[in-house]
Amino acid sequence: MSLIEVSHLRKEYPNVIPLRDVNAKVDEGEVISIIGPSGTGKSTFIRCLNRLETPTSGSILVDGVDMCDPNVDLPLMRQKMGMVFQNYALFNHKLVAENLMMAPMDLLGLSKQEAYERALNLLDQVGLRDKALSWPHELSGGQRQRVAIARGLAMDPKILLFDEPTSALDPQMVSEVLSVITGLAERGLTMLVVTHEMRFARDASTRVFYMDRGELWEAGPPEQIFEHPQRQETHDFIFRVRSWEWTIDSSTPDLPAMEASLAAYCQRQFMSRHATNACHHIVEEVALEQLVREARNRKMTNPDIRLTLSAGEGGVDTILLVDYRSMLPGGDPLQATDAKLSEAIISGLCKQVERNEPGVVRYHLK
Ligand SMILES: Nc1ncnc2c1ncn2[C@@H]1O[C@H](COP(=O)(O)OP(=O)(O)OP(=O)(O)O)[C@@H](O)[C@H]1O
Ligand SMILES: [Mg+2]
Repeated sequence: MSLIEVSHLRKEYPNVIPLRDVNAKVDEGEVISIIGPSGTGKSTFIRCLNRLETPTSGSILVDGVDMCDPNVDLPLMRQKMGMVFQNYALFNHKLVAENLMMAPMDLLGLSKQEAYERALNLLDQVGLRDKALSWPHELSGGQRQRVAIARGLAMDPKILLFDEPTSALDPQMVSEVLSVITGLAERGLTMLVVTHEMRFARDASTRVFYMDRGELWEAGPPEQIFEHPQRQETHDFIFRVRSWEWTIDSSTPDLPAMEASLAAYCQRQFMSRHATNACHHIVEEVALEQLVREARNRKMTNPDIRLTLSAGEGGVDTILLVDYRSMLPGGDPLQATDAKLSEAIISGLCKQVERNEPGVVRYHLK
């Protein structure tokens, strides 16, 4: 029997059905990443598992116990299943160690000294022993989230549930939290992680669940989901999250928003510094200096310049695609003399510049 067995799980609210008919099994020691578009029931699913939400129908067996049975011992079952949320939710008026001591003292009857030693041990596991006597507000977001993970481990659970544990963090803190989670995976803890960190999903999970429209649309090992998805919806989702897309539809575009979004994508994809700088340079030189300026000269109020960046890996090039076909009717702006000059510099940043089709350039980054 699997550690978790979900059959025909359904959750209805008056106006929406976040879970229609979910069926899933999770074996001991598995690390499941749950991915999918927004609003497709991922959080609802994970919250049903430990009964923070009451399912409308269906059954959830955890370690052989039916979580939907009205007589189930929920406190006991929740000890078996720790949970870590997006916003760490630590008690701010308690020291870091005290945050970890409460449950073991209340529920296991440990003495203060025993609970403190246990807390130090937990902090060790997330690399924060030296912060035991700090206040939560003295820690960085990433450190607070690591404390929240330690707290999730405080009752020695068999299963740890995560709902977007890194989505409230700055990019540089994401990797420290993910590496703690990866470390737990290596110790054989069973984990279900709702995440939008595709690299984590691919590298750290035994299986990936793709959820869409209230159903578990596709489940399989990361190679299947990321390289050979069986369903079109999975394929489209994976392509969308793998690439960065931006449309410049105004001759006075919101540059800080665009730059920030591009920077976040490059960071998330662990792109090299060189490729990241080259991307920013091309976007600034080509899209802004040449195309947007020309759009302004031509008094085009609504240009349609599309940028798509796909971070490559495993022998596949990182490609920045600039699609400015909408501007061709007034002549090709990138064929102007000063555009050609800046193209010469850009060529130096690229392995190859591909122009197979008028109005579309593919920059293969080094
Ligand atoms: N307590 C609630 N009452 C009513 N509707 C709810 C409630 N909780 C969730 N929903 C709805 O259920 C649907 C699924 O929500 P859920 O939070 O599970 O999605 P999600 O996949 O986690 O999305 P995201 O990726 O944005 O976190 C949404 O339409 C949401 O508005
Ligand atoms: Mg959610």
